[in-house]
Amino acid sequence: MDVENRRDEASLKEKINELKKEKGAVILAHYYQQGPIQDIADHIGDSLALAQYAATLKDAKIIVLCGVHFMGETAKLLCPGKKVLVPDASAGCSLADSCPADEFKKFVEAHPDHTVVSYVNTSVGVKALTDVLVTSGNARKIIDSLPADEKIIFGPDRNLGNYINSTTGRSMLLWDGACHVHEKFSVEKIAGLKKQHPAAKVLVHPECKKPVVLLADKVGSTAALLAYARESDATEFIVATESGILHQMQKDCPGKTFIPAPPDDASTCGCNDCSYMKLNTLEKLYRCLLDEAPEIHIDPAIAEAARKPIERMLELS
Ligand code: 13P
Ligand code: SF4
Repeated sequence: MDVENRRDEASLKEKINELKKEKGAVILAHYYQQGPIQDIADHIGDSLALAQYAATLKDAKIIVLCGVHFMGETAKLLCPGKKVLVPDASAGCSLADSCPADEFKKFVEAHPDHTVVSYVNTSVGVKALTDVLVTSGNARKIIDSLPADEKIIFGPDRNLGNYINSTTGRSMLLWDGACHVHEKFSVEKIAGLKKQHPAAKVLVHPECKKPVVLLADKVGSTAALLAYARESDATEFIVATESGILHQMQKDCPGKTFIPAPPDDASTCGCNDCSYMKLNTLEKLYRCLLDEAPEIHIDPAIAEAARKPIERMLELS
């Protein structure tokens, strides 16, 4: 970064901090956000930690959720009396989009004797059809807490669903959805990297396909992968999840090397960035605090039904 850009970034950060104080705002950021956004946030975390943190915010007047839209909606459902802002309202999620609520409703209605477990990466409409939500950080624990003979529908991520089925011995019925970033990691390229760096540990998010998961030394949520990197004696890691997590890994483990796992050749950007997560910028964060917009609004007709599975998840976590 050149001197001028560094000065611009420092001045934006100063203005954001001033506005934050003046307006009683709290900034929450996901690990996939750009580094400068993670650095200025009051709290960074995986999707579970962000929901847990939002649920404890009593004094904040405004919550700014730097992540994707469903994360802002989760915070709003948990804090209905607060103003919840997002830097860019068009920051969606391909996984949530792979499960339209009207189609999921038909799937649920076709299996009336099943408990509905959904991943947090879903629209409010899908949450309203759900009995209990999970994140990648607590999915195993929550599924294990359900009776062994309970019939379960799991949506929308087929990869996370398959992974939970294989680790818990369940046979949950899976919705056929996936994330465009995690589907694209290349088994061959990761295996090639492993040959060049034989001592490297392979860190994999459970949204990845099974052949990638099978290469992993550690499978887990962004927070779990970060904790593993911190605690491991290894000094090299191949990281198969969105590239934003490398910022915090490098900050927390300055002496260690993190190598982003390459996507396959069908990847449109040739990288492992989530185009939605990367829509947020410091400039947009500043504007959203200044204008108090875009704000998350949730249809009151479904808000209560959508809140229940999140509260159940937090009780069971
Ligand atoms: P985490 O729950 O690990 O933060 O993952 C969120 C996500 O969107 C993964 O793609
Ligand atoms: Fe959604 Fe995938 Fe982006 Fe995560 S990485 S927010 S699952 S599109």
